[in-house]
Amino acid sequence: AARGESDAWDAITEMDEHNRPIHTFQVCNVMEPNQNNWLRSNWISRQAAQKVYVELRFTLRDCNSIPWVSGTCKETFNLFYHETDEAHGVKFRPAQYTKIDTIAADESFTQMDLGDRILKLNTEVREVGPINRKGFYLAFQDIGACIALVSVRVYYKKCPFTLRNLASFPDTVPRVDSSSLVEVRGACVDHAEERDTPKLFCGADGDWLVPLGRCVCSVGYEEIDGSCVACRPGFYKAYAGNIKCSKCPPHSFSYGDASAICRCEKGFFRAEKDPPTMACTRPPSPPRNLIFNLNDTCLLLEWSPPSDTGGRRDLTYNVQCKRCGPEPDHCQLCEDELRFLPGPLGLTNATVTVMDFSAHANYTFEIESLNGVSDMSSFPRQVAIITVSTDQGGPSLVGTLKKDWASPNSIALSWQQPEQTTLPIIDYEVKYYEKVLKYSVYDSKAPSVIVSGLKPATWYVFSVRTRTAAGYSSYSPKYEYETTGDCKYLRPSTVLICCTAVRPKNRVFCMTLIICHSWYFKAKMTSEDKRRANYQNGHGKSIKLPLSFSFTYVDPDTYEDPTQAVHEFTKEIDPSRIRIERVIGAGEFGEVCSGRLRTPGKKEIAVAIKTLKGGYVERQRRDFLREASIMGQFDHPNIIRLEGVVTKSRPVMIVVEYMENGSLDSFLRQHDGHFTVIQLVGMLRGIASGMKYLSDMGYVHRDLAARNILVNSNLVCKVSDFGLSRVLEDDPEAAYTTTGGKIPIRWTAPEAISYRKFSSASDAWSYGIVMWEVMSYGERPYWEMSNQDVILSIEEGYRLPAPMGCPVALHQLMLHCWQKERNHRPKFTDIVSFLDKLIRNPSSLLPLPESPGEEMDYPMFISVGDWLDSIKMSQYKSNFMAAGYNTLDSVARMSIDHAVCLYNHLIKNGLFLKRSLNLNWYCNMVPRYFTTLLLTH
Ligand code: ADE
Repeated sequence: AARGESDAWDAITEMDEHNRPIHTFQVCNVMEPNQNNWLRSNWISRQAAQKVYVELRFTLRDCNSIPWVSGTCKETFNLFYHETDEAHGVKFRPAQYTKIDTIAADESFTQMDLGDRILKLNTEVREVGPINRKGFYLAFQDIGACIALVSVRVYYKKCPFTLRNLASFPDTVPRVDSSSLVEVRGACVDHAEERDTPKLFCGADGDWLVPLGRCVCSVGYEEIDGSCVACRPGFYKAYAGNIKCSKCPPHSFSYGDASAICRCEKGFFRAEKDPPTMACTRPPSPPRNLIFNLNDTCLLLEWSPPSDTGGRRDLTYNVQCKRCGPEPDHCQLCEDELRFLPGPLGLTNATVTVMDFSAHANYTFEIESLNGVSDMSSFPRQVAIITVSTDQGGPSLVGTLKKDWASPNSIALSWQQPEQTTLPIIDYEVKYYEKVLKYSVYDSKAPSVIVSGLKPATWYVFSVRTRTAAGYSSYSPKYEYETTGDCKYLRPSTVLICCTAVRPKNRVFCMTLIICHSWYFKAKMTSEDKRRANYQNGHGKSIKLPLSFSFTYVDPDTYEDPTQAVHEFTKEIDPSRIRIERVIGAGEFGEVCSGRLRTPGKKEIAVAIKTLKGGYVERQRRDFLREASIMGQFDHPNIIRLEGVVTKSRPVMIVVEYMENGSLDSFLRQHDGHFTVIQLVGMLRGIASGMKYLSDMGYVHRDLAARNILVNSNLVCKVSDFGLSRVLEDDPEAAYTTTGGKIPIRWTAPEAISYRKFSSASDAWSYGIVMWEVMSYGERPYWEMSNQDVILSIEEGYRLPAPMGCPVALHQLMLHCWQKERNHRPKFTDIVSFLDKLIRNPSSLLPLPESPGEEMDYPMFISVGDWLDSIKMSQYKSNFMAAGYNTLDSVARMSIDHAVCLYNHLIKNGLFLKRSLNLNWYCNMVPRYFTTLLLTH
């Protein structure tokens, strides 16, 4: 340190209580007036800092403990700084210095402490900055105190170098403006590549916030403890991503480190389209058990699949035919002469039918099995071989195959019986096929047949052959016959025309077709339509909106896969369109930030971004996104609008419109008394309109409270916080009930507390409480009463009194919302129109008189006696009269003494609460301090 003008500061080394030396600067000119003693630090380089923190540790003598110094002795000193670019040769001129603060001691020491060697060390920290020059000096001005400066620590805060999501983030100095964040782009670690641009945000206190994007290990590398490590020999990783190296698949190997793929062992192969994860495979062994079954025109070859498929499933067979003469080596290929069904090559079934072969010939068939790697192997192929001789047959038919008659579905045929047969004819086989299709066969003992089950107006081909014990004859020539037509088989578009024309019996058929038609369209309903339909059927919740089409809300829990609900009801946002600016709160699942959302072709908008912090389990992700699936179904100016979600990259986010004034309860508390009644009613009207929309949609909010309403810059209120059970888990007001549910007691209707009967009517109760919160500028409902007392008083009939200055009409509406019988509460549509009427007629909103002396208007009661009768307190008539309360006006102005006296009397006689059903009336009648007194009992 450099000395200042007066040389009064001394560098002194003392011993602490452990006898360790402490180097200090001390000054103690407390006897002399007008002290101005400066001590200046060396030049301190700013380095990367913008804002600097100075931590001072010092001791200070208590002036009262020094005799004869009153007037001259001080108990503070001043801290100054001066920015310069030059590190040396700057002359000390106090006038250049800017004052940071006056520093006072939290603890000063006395003579006694000195004697006891007690060091009362003070620590004070001050912020300096923003600093723009290369460095600065600090200076300490003593104005007559007894100080020992023990240490001065100068530091700045930074978000330290860190590795997150396989990206490295450098040391980063936060912004001077403590509410805005510095966005830092990370660099992927070695052997990693970007998936979504990795980003972190550096907060004012040097904490990293809101990780976005990530890097993933490249092929051949896997993540171990935050870095990418090469796969060992015998392992591989074929794709970049958050997957581990895998062991080489069967029949493959890798010798080196960092293999992207394993090579196949000798004799094994990988087909072009085989993924690297698949085992290497080889060609199959030949087919087994090849047999034939020959008749007059058909040769059926059948075999068993090979014993070794080579490890693949794409097994096929090829058939090759050779026709050999008497000499076995005089063979020629014969595929072209024969007909193969379904074909000679690429057979997938272990059978083939051969046709059009010659009688009295020898055929050799070779069946080869093949798979996707057969072409890669240079090994000679192995085949199954069979030789077939076609010498056989029965008596052939002579004469024509006659059509006797035809109907739409049948044709009757007959033919001539062969005259001379060596063996008796067992039966005939009639082959027929639709001219364009595969054939069928029909066995008949007689030389005639009715072939039924045919299509109307269709040409069929028939031929017939005989069968004896020696086998089949060859087929007769082919005959083509057509079935007749029928109108009832016309296509569906002509069904109706047909119906009118057909006989009554056939009309049944037409009807069936029409019914099936409507069934078909039902079956084609989307899954969402079905859910809506189920919801309406199952819950009787179809909403009647005059002249408009209404949607019902679909509970995302009805989806087997909740991700499906997210897809259906939300838009995926590319995270590059989102710019996070500042953290505005902390939700149950992670930070809530504000920022901007860019949409191509649209104006950038302000958004709030809820993030799901890393390390979540699937259930948390589902619960988090469930709110988005619900919100995404709503579209109303008083419901918070969902812009979209980010689910395909980390962190998972929900993006909603930004509401500049935050939540309604804190907004009202911050602006206590600032709004006109019309403004407050305008807010309430908005909330009621949003709730009307929700109840029309069949959605029950369950946690309607001012804390769950957001307010924008135009004072528009929007309902937020959706997600049913999750909402209640998240709500600090929600308490567990005796039945185990978590419920915000003060806002919840009695039937919902007692047996979880949540409905739009219970939302209406909560709405009454929100009205009360709004009209009392964010007062806590039922003040500090315990939840148990709230439940008891409500059960006894007690209701919150009108907040100060609250118009009677609004309090009446609240009381209406708080009716025990839920069906008596107003519907949200009634609330909206009631509030609209009030807004149109502002005189209805004149506040309740606040203090005695103002006129009150109670049209319901004529006299104090009637009123006492009505509240079952007739026995007090004489007391009221004796005390001079003979008009309701005078009751309303009852003195505090009398109010307390009456209150005590009610308590003593057990009338309070017991008679409290009537206290509502009472509370509305008596001065406010009295109602408050009753309430807080
Ligand atoms: N806090 C939570 N959601 C918000 C929003 N949409 N706007 C402003 N603050 C919020």
